Order: sequence, then structure tokens, then C-alpha cells
Amino acid sequence: MTDPLALEPVLAPAERGRLPFNDADRDHDERLELFEAHVVDGGKVEATDWMPDEYRTGVLRFVEMHANTELMGVLPEREWLIRAPTLRRKLALTAKVQDEVGHAQLLYRVAEDLGKPRDAMIEDLLAGRTKFHNVFHYPTRTWADIGIIAWLVDAAAIVAQQALRDSSYAPYARTMRKICWESVHIMHGRDVVVTMVNGTAEQRAMVKRHSTGGGGR
Ligand SMILES: [Fe+2]
Ligand SMILES: [Fe+2]
Repeated sequence: MTDPLALEPVLAPAERGRLPFNDADRDHDERLELFEAHVVDGGKVEATDWMPDEYRTGVLRFVEMHANTELMGVLPEREWLIRAPTLRRKLALTAKVQDEVGHAQLLYRVAEDLGKPRDAMIEDLLAGRTKFHNVFHYPTRTWADIGIIAWLVDAAAIVAQQALRDSSYAPYARTMRKICWESVHIMHGRDVVVTMVNGTAEQRAMVKRHSTGGGGR
């Protein structure tokens, strides 16, 4: 689902041209000072604006890690597509996996514009040179793990992503506004967990093993 508001540019093009730090005739220090004042004042930065190297690399590193996390988060869930207990659960999990890969695509696109080619990002990820959220280093041992990830990990992610909607880097802020539309993941996770808790003793034990850490998470 796409939030239509997320597609609106933050500033009109005419207004952007007047941003003083985009003026190439000024020296670097002056541009840096103007840039900082703009950002501190709540101003947004577009991909085509001038930006200091520290800002560019900082935003790139952050967005790349976020993209890696969306992609790596899919791997433990993907294993359960063929093991989902019912067709309805399989469809819901397939939709979630598709959403998360889509989030990774959107974020790699944002990172790419900052100067690092997508191939290089994937190579660095595979070689272990870049990071992703450590929660996805743990295996998913039971179907309860899948419910808990969708319910609690996604809930935590949405809280973090809501704050990122105010990022000074406008393409990232806009992407966050699209991605934050994923409360359906939480509802799917809660439904899986509530069903199991109201099910057999074995299902309850599976959820309990997870929540006490005995399931390896
Ligand atoms: Fe996501
Ligand atoms: Fe999600």
C-alpha cells in the first residue's frame, strides 16, 4: 500500500534553487555553515543538493544498513513460506515477504543516489563488510518465531521508522512515510500468536519457548 502523501515533493523546484549552500561560487566553509544552519532549522536536503561529504557518507551508511536489514529480515521468514500451517497463513507471510523485499528495493534506491552502486552494496553485504540489524542473525526455529517477529520486531521497527520520517534527507523521509504503512504486518503477527496461545498445549509451549528465550532467540 502506498501513502499518496509520500509522493509529494517537500519543496517546489523554484524554492530549492534559492538555497544558498547550492551556490558554487561560495567557498566550502561558507557552504558548510549555511548547510548546517539549514538542517538545524528543520530544512530538508534533496539528492540533487550540495552536501558535505560527512553528511553524504553518514546518510549513505545509515540507509544502506536499513536496506540490508529489510533484505536480511526476509531470509528467516522465507524459510517458513513452505512450512506455514495453513494456506491463509502462507498467503499472509508471502505478502509480508514481498513487502519487505520492496522496502529493501526502495531503500537501496535512496542509497544509490548518494553515490554507491547497488552491486557494491550487495557485494559488501555478502562479504560481511556492512551491517544489518542483529535481531536477524538469530534462526527461526518454530512457527511461533514467525508470529513474534511480525508482531514485536515489526512493531519496534515502526516506532523507529516513525522518527525517521523527520529525517533531514528528504528522499529517506519520503521513503519512510511509505514504509511506515505496514501495521498489517503487526496484525498478522498478533493473529498468529493469539491463535497459538488459544490453541493446543504444544502451540502454547512453542510461544512460551520463544518468549523466554529458550527457543534460541
Ligand atoms: Fe519493512
Ligand atoms: Fe515489516
